[in-house]
Amino acid sequence: MLKEIHETPRVIEDTLATHLRDSALGTMNLDLDVPRPAEVLMVACGTSFHAALVGKYVIEELAGVPVRVNLASEFNYAATPLSRGTLVVGITQSGETADTLSALRKARAAGCATLAITNVLGSIVTRLADRVIYMRAGPEICVAATKTFTAQLITLYLLALHFSDMELAEKQKMFKELRRLPMAVQRVLDVEDKIKRISERIASYENVFFIGRGISFPVALEGALKLKEISYIHAEGYAAGELKHGPFALLTEKTPVVAIVARDRTYDTMLGNIKEVKARNAPVVAVADEDDDEIEKYVDFVIRTPHVEAIFSAVTNSVALQLLAYYAARKRGCEIDKPRNLAKSVTVE
Ligand code: M6R
Repeated sequence: MLKEIHETPRVIEDTLATHLRDSALGTMNLDLDVPRPAEVLMVACGTSFHAALVGKYVIEELAGVPVRVNLASEFNYAATPLSRGTLVVGITQSGETADTLSALRKARAAGCATLAITNVLGSIVTRLADRVIYMRAGPEICVAATKTFTAQLITLYLLALHFSDMELAEKQKMFKELRRLPMAVQRVLDVEDKIKRISERIASYENVFFIGRGISFPVALEGALKLKEISYIHAEGYAAGELKHGPFALLTEKTPVVAIVARDRTYDTMLGNIKEVKARNAPVVAVADEDDDEIEKYVDFVIRTPHVEAIFSAVTNSVALQLLAYYAARKRGCEIDKPRNLAKSVTVE
């Protein structure tokens, strides 16, 4: 897992090199003759579902196209209305996840155009969907998805820019930011020792909450999934505003809360949420921008991530959370690469 996390900067470079034709002209190599759709519906499971939730935020923000995200495992049993103008996007690293395949079959049967985002050449999904975008993450052996999650995010940023009718100058700025991400992720990896020290404290707890708002909400969900699957610590990801609708009852000095804090329009409300958590005596670890000099006053520990445009903070912050999970699991002596009861691809519904 650690090796695969460390491959992330190269994975981002490769994914961008494959799909970005010319940043100056704002052109891409995505094999997509689909025009800007009236609506996008994404189907996925597990970590890929969390990438889809980030994708919803990004596509709506950058392209203004409405996006619905469904768990593939639920979509197959729901009477979700589908119209021919809907582009259905199946996100699956392995290309073999049974629920995601069934969801795409259902979408095709309803006459929708389908697109698969996958990492595996020749996988079942590539034969099923009308269009395919390959991520360039290389083989991922560890059961926990890490570098492929990042590659999914990069692909979704590119898809959003493909659909977007923003001015060329604005698009160029976005491409420039994307090109800075390998270096930004490398800087997260460079502070690994600090993340390790914080993780070793987290390792002694049995319940952890992860909270975020806006784009950081799915990052929180993914942080919690990563921690629970490899360290066996019970972890819950929550939209920060939802804590007070129930989970507050669980907060004590024994339930640390990891708060993902982006420097965007959610910032002030997020600080308010952190104060509420602290008032319940829960220890707080913030994952925050290196330029944020407010946050330290309100939390117990800060994991600093390099400054990037807030919309791209999902990349840097999720890599920090992957390291957090990894070192907590290592401290607990878990068999990280092959967690109990889990398989790399889930080929039954
Ligand atoms: O191959 P897929 O992306 O379709 O897999 C989906 C999930 O099974 C997968 O992301 C799973 O949640 C991972 N163990 C997460 O680390």
